[in-house]
Amino acid sequence: MEGPLHDGHGRRISDLRVSVTDRCNFRCQYCMPAEGLPWLEREEVLSFEEIARLVSLLVEIGIEDVRLTGGEPLVRRGFPDLVAMLGAIEGIHDLALTTNGYLLERDAEALAVAGIGRVNVSVDSLQRDRFFAVTRRDALPQVLRGLEAIAAHPQVRPVKVNAVAMRDFTEEEVGRFCELARSTSFQVRFIEFMPLDGDRAWRPDSVLTGEELRSAIEEVHPLEELPREPSATARVFRFADGSGEIGFINPVSEPFCADCNRLRLTAEGKLRTCLFSLRETDLRGPLRAGAGDEELAALIRDAVWRKELKHRVNEPGFQAPVRTMSAIGG
Ligand code: 5AD
Ligand code: SF4
Repeated sequence: MEGPLHDGHGRRISDLRVSVTDRCNFRCQYCMPAEGLPWLEREEVLSFEEIARLVSLLVEIGIEDVRLTGGEPLVRRGFPDLVAMLGAIEGIHDLALTTNGYLLERDAEALAVAGIGRVNVSVDSLQRDRFFAVTRRDALPQVLRGLEAIAAHPQVRPVKVNAVAMRDFTEEEVGRFCELARSTSFQVRFIEFMPLDGDRAWRPDSVLTGEELRSAIEEVHPLEELPREPSATARVFRFADGSGEIGFINPVSEPFCADCNRLRLTAEGKLRTCLFSLRETDLRGPLRAGAGDEELAALIRDAVWRKELKHRVNEPGFQAPVRTMSAIGG
């Protein structure tokens, strides 16, 4: 097959996010409506074998890093088995997981054994009642136990904590998140709120920007920026007076599309070339119809070639995708 995956804008595509389920045990305000969403039927969702076949093929044509997401990946039955299957694929440099942490205490051991490399846990508040308000689940203590459980495995590093930053909410959390970053090995990162919420409540002014957060932190704790890879989404800083790192993912105020190297596979086998794609490429149909590797690779290359130049969140007439974050895979 021809050379490694590139898009039509000259970007080398090497990072794949795989959503393993659209279901979730949380109902985060910035992602899902309180009543949930119509879930996919079981047979609509790719089997572990189907995921492993597509991931193998994608790795063969240039994907190097794979992150498993959802919905909430740990609600998928037997999820650590999938991690082990993917861990056995040669050519994956980095096998990572994004989880809400609720089931991490239960699964940390199995995931570490299965070969997960690194884990991101979403924690939007460090106060129990406020955590409940955002996620609509009273689960902070359980999530913190999950974090401890995964951190107990030194081969799983780094462990990162992600907080979606929302105006009139996150400002009050900044001090506590800094203390977490300064007193543990967790890298804490704030992610700007993007218009991918189930309630369609996103407004430009509900974005609390990374720069606002950074300058608020800097008033208390001087920060030093660390060098970053071009395709890294986060700007990471260390506390100048001690240990700990804090990062800012600013997709709305400082889009990093120009260096985007990502591709997404939804739970039902659609390939998405952008978080905000309005079109997607079905791989499940051809896969189940018996397509060979060459045919699937051609479909993938063609979709990747047409990858969007950039998102248009800040432009007039922006149209959000129908899918919410939970149905795309963060
Ligand atoms: N904006 C920004 N980040 C989001 N996430 C989910 N919805 C949004 C949104 N609307 C992030 C959460 C979670 C990851 C899966 O996606 O932080 O960690
Ligand atoms: Fe579930 Fe993650 Fe969406 Fe929260 S952000 S509802 S944990 S999928």
